[in-house]
Parts: sequence; structure tokens; C-alpha cells
Amino acid sequence: MTSAPAAKLTLPDAQTVTAVTHWTDSLFSFRVSRPASLRFRSGEFVMIGLMGDNGKPLLRAYSIASPSWDEELEFYSIKVPDGPLTSKLQHIKVGDEIILRPKPVGTLVHDALLPGKRMWFLATGTGLAPFASLMRDPETYEKYEQVIMMHTCRTVAELEYGRRLVESLADDPLIGEMVAGKLLYYPTTTREEFHHMGRVTDNLSSGKVFADLGLPPMDPATDRAMVCGSLAFNVDVKAILEGFGLREGANSEPLEYVVEKAFVGDGV
Ligand code: FAD
Ligand code: A2P
Repeated sequence: MTSAPAAKLTLPDAQTVTAVTHWTDSLFSFRVSRPASLRFRSGEFVMIGLMGDNGKPLLRAYSIASPSWDEELEFYSIKVPDGPLTSKLQHIKVGDEIILRPKPVGTLVHDALLPGKRMWFLATGTGLAPFASLMRDPETYEKYEQVIMMHTCRTVAELEYGRRLVESLADDPLIGEMVAGKLLYYPTTTREEFHHMGRVTDNLSSGKVFADLGLPPMDPATDRAMVCGSLAFNVDVKAILEGFGLREGANSEPLEYVVEKAFVGDGV
């Protein structure tokens, strides 16, 4: 495990930033050291943040974007212009410290679903983050014959983090062979010309995604789904999944689909 020397740490639950990548004016990703004791299930989230001006920790929920086997932790973040946390977090550099409360939780986990043949990951914007973890987890490919990643953003640039990640999987020594032929990536834009366009909801309702990928419509006997986006997105997708006969599950009662909010509020 990579962790910073104890003497350097000044914050409670401090972890050291090891990499930062800016994808657009409003999106960046970063990696931090992982507490040796932190165990989590791919798809879960933790509270992370910085020390506020008032001397109290300023924390927000963040999905862990790295898989559970990774020695470091990765996060994929929005930059909200006046956001209390991200207006500062967007300026972190390698060697800086962030606060990370090591208590992972969440519903986007394999345990919350009944066994199935086909897994649908449905996301908008930074809602990709939990699936960046799950797409890199061998368990995903051991449990399912096919995995479909539908990700929709307004522009092509906003898809880039996910595109690079999916592209890198083929060369991954751990899961490269497992992913080949099993992972179907279906990125779309809604406000810029791209080879595939349209909202996740529209492409499911019209049947376009099934036709494009050569798949049958969703069936509760075979299909499972995990959903992560804005509240409006989650509500609309849930209605479509229920229309196919899928029921919402939870850690305590595994069923056919699970949902998590990518953020609270109306979006930036
Ligand atoms: P806030 O005061 O928290 O937010 C201000 C406003 O910005 C919100 O009301 C909303 O309208 C908008 N907003 C906030 N976050 C987003 C977002 N991600 N996308 C679009 N609009 C947003 N954020 C991430 O960037 N990456 C994650 O992996 C992530 N995982 C989360 C998991 C859960 C379970 C929840 C509940 C939230 C998650 N968030 C994630 C949102 C995150 O907790 C913060 O809201 C975000 O970092 C902005 O913090 P802030 O203090 O700058 O602004
Ligand atoms: P659209 O451009 O048609 O609004 P945002 O940047 O507002 O968070 O949205 C991210 C992506 O999610 C956009 O492509 C947006 O499409 C899409 N989107 C927003 N709301 C919904 C919804 N209720 N159902 C499906 N897709 C949505």
C-alpha cells in the first residue's frame, strides 16, 4: 500500500495527492494514497474534503473511481464555480493533502443485485465514477456474460475520461482478457455532434441502443442495471427499468436494479 510518511500528515484522516488530470474546465480526476486499513466494495463512496477556513473539515460524498484491488484511490470530480469544496479542490497538486474518512458505503454494489447475464451501467456526467471502479473489477466480468456502459454528457470532451478508461482496459494485465468482447461501451452526447447521440433514457425507450448493439430488450430474468446521475435522470431511468419489469434492490434485499445519486441538487 502507498501511504504518506506519518510525520508529513497534518490533517485528520489525511491522504497525499499522487496525480491530478484536468479533463475540461469543469471536470478533473485525481489519485491519492490509500489508507492501509481501507477495504471497500467497487462502486461505493466515501466522504472526502479539505480543511475549511473555519478550521473544520469541509467534506462531500465522492464515489471511489478506482477498483478495490488498486493500491491508490482515484476520484473523478466536477468543478462547481462557487462550490464550497470544489472551488478549492480543483486547485490541488501532487504532494498536497486531502481528508478522507475511511467509511465506504453505497448501493451500487454487486451484492445488491440478484445473479444475471447482462449488466447495464447507466450514467450521466460524473455519475460515471462508480462505474469507473466497477468496470475495472474482475468480479464484474466473472458475474456477467455482457456488460454495457451507457454514458451521456452534453459534449464530446466530457466523455473523454470514460473513453480513455475503457480504452485502457484492453491492455490491463489483470482484466484485459476478461473484458475483451464482454464490455460494450455506448457513449453519447446531447449537445454536440458525435457518432452516437441522445439521452440514455431516449436510447432505451426507442430501442435504439438494443438495435445498435444487437441485444434483446431488457428482461428481468437476465438483465441487471446500476444507475447513477442527477435526481431527474435517476427518476426517468427508474420508470423505464420498471417498464421492462426490473425491480429496485438494495444491500438488504437484492433485486434487479440499484440507483445512487451522482450529486444532490439541479446541476451546474
Ligand atoms: P455543493 O454545494 O456540494 O454543490 C453545489 C451544486 O453543484 C449542487 O447543488 C449541484 O447543483 C451541483 N453539483 C454538485 N456536484 C455535482 C456533480 N458531480 N455534477 C454536476 N453538478 C453537481 N461529485 C463528483 O464530482 N464526483 C463524485 O464521484 C461524486 N460522488 C457523489 C456520490 C454521492 C452519493 C453524492 C450524494 C454526491 C456525490 N458527488 C460527487 C457530489 C459531491 O458530493 C459534491 O456535491 C461536489 O463535489 C460539489 O461540492 P461543492 O462543495 O463544490 O458544491
Ligand atoms: P440534455 O443535454 O438533453 O439535457 P447535465 O450536464 O445537465 O448534468 O446533463 C448531463 C447529461 O444528462 C446531458 O447529456 C443531459 O441531456 C442528460 N440529462 C439531463 N437530465 C436528464 C434526464 N432527466 N434524463 C436523461 N438524461 C438527462
